[in-house]
Amino acid sequence: MRTALQSGNAAGTETELLVVFTVDAASTKDGKPEITLLTEEPAVQQAAAPFLTSGEFSSNPNETLLLHAPQGLKAKRLLLVGLGKAAKATIHHLRCAAGTAVRFAKQRKLRGLFFIAPAGQVFTGATERAIVEGAILADFDPDTYRSDRKDQSVQSLTIIIAASADHKAAEEALREGTVIAESQNFTRSLVNEPGNRLTPAIFGQRAAEMAREAGLKCEVYGAEKLHELKMGAFWSVAQGSDEPPALIVVTYEPEGAAERPVLGLVGKGITFDTGGISIKPSDNMEKMKYDMAGGAAMLGAMRAIAQLKPKVKVIAVVCATENMPSGKAQKPGDVQIAMSGKSIEIINTDAEGRLVLADGLAYAKQLGATHLIDAATLTGAVAVALGQINAGVFSNNEETYQRFSNAVSKTGERFWRLPLEEEYRDLIRSDIADIKNTGGRYGGAITAAMFLKEFAEDTPWIHLDIASMAWLDDAKPWIAKGPTGVAVRSIIEWVRSYAE
Ligand code: BES
Ligand code: MN
Ligand code: ZN
Repeated sequence: MRTALQSGNAAGTETELLVVFTVDAASTKDGKPEITLLTEEPAVQQAAAPFLTSGEFSSNPNETLLLHAPQGLKAKRLLLVGLGKAAKATIHHLRCAAGTAVRFAKQRKLRGLFFIAPAGQVFTGATERAIVEGAILADFDPDTYRSDRKDQSVQSLTIIIAASADHKAAEEALREGTVIAESQNFTRSLVNEPGNRLTPAIFGQRAAEMAREAGLKCEVYGAEKLHELKMGAFWSVAQGSDEPPALIVVTYEPEGAAERPVLGLVGKGITFDTGGISIKPSDNMEKMKYDMAGGAAMLGAMRAIAQLKPKVKVIAVVCATENMPSGKAQKPGDVQIAMSGKSIEIINTDAEGRLVLADGLAYAKQLGATHLIDAATLTGAVAVALGQINAGVFSNNEETYQRFSNAVSKTGERFWRLPLEEEYRDLIRSDIADIKNTGGRYGGAITAAMFLKEFAEDTPWIHLDIASMAWLDDAKPWIAKGPTGVAVRSIIEWVRSYAE
């Protein structure tokens, strides 16, 4: 998708589709809808005016109204997209509404769009960034392997900003948004790949390719390295598979960055999770190809970081393997020694994510990470707790959590904090080893996080359980069904917060 800015002249723009955002500015007193187009151009207002009083459009979030041959405009079509009530509209509504416009256009084979950046008092900050993010995310479709796949991607997108607007700031916002959304789509394309087409080794190759293009250092290690590092927890999962594991390390060390902090991004990269000997039921098992979404999120974040160039050191560690049953697979009751030296009793081989992450966290620390963040499709329990609305976030440190929480408020992603109180530790006490890998029926997302906490130790750490949000079962007006790329945007903002 080509992106560009244009200064003013919405009325004179020749295009297939001109998009304008609307709010309902009704005062709470009389409650009568008062639909307002967010543009400074009177000609655009006038073109839509007859349709705003008819009651056929209420400006609800993501509601659309298409006007053909709008009077007084050069555009062939004018699309109104609602942002909801003026008092409640956020920059994230704008991101989604831009996506809604793009998906509207794609369905109708319209390949070039012009957006009028909202004028007036509704938003402070970079609307261009939100628009381009929403648009690029909306352009993604997961039907990669359909032989009749039609390339319906949008070819060009232009944002019309007010003639008086700060052109340089808008350029920068456009560039940032493009980098971030394209990186999130890179993550989504990895998550979308089936297990046979994205083995751990191929995952490693894709990471190396990305790193080469982005100018990052990347190493991909195999089983030998796991043995050398004494990664007994990671290997215990990998040992059951005929596909060799991949330990992926991507490093970003900008010139002029301080020695500290060093941010460690650790991702769960299970390219397929059968459950192992504690095998999963076959219903929905095909979904377990997305069990590497945490790892893919870290690679997407690194891709963006390489281009946005924050002045802070970052290391990503992705632990990639399949979780398979076989004659070589680990068994319930086995005891494994993790890289940190802790012994783990395996109760359920399907609780494999925490095993690979235990060693991933330890390795990131050994490589010098002073602050850790991990992302993992770790538990079904997080979806039971939060539904498919929020992902779970856990932290052992208030300062680093605050940074994450601030990051989230900028990105529009949804994370809900869950507790890590000491009492939960009792649930993963083992009779034979230091710790066991499951904690029973209750509080499953929390006991999984408590397990990881043992390996983060005193290092400030954030854990993102994205199992509830990494895959969308039903399309929304602004986004296709399938891989979401959740957490990529918030991780990027968290990293940038250390460079400020
Ligand atoms: N990959 C799964 C978690 C998962 C479930 C992700 C559904 C996405 C959607 C994880 O490895 C797993 O199997 N967790 C078990 C843990 C249990 C054995 C303690 C679970 O959630 O059932
Ligand atoms: Mn599992
Ligand atoms: Zn898993």
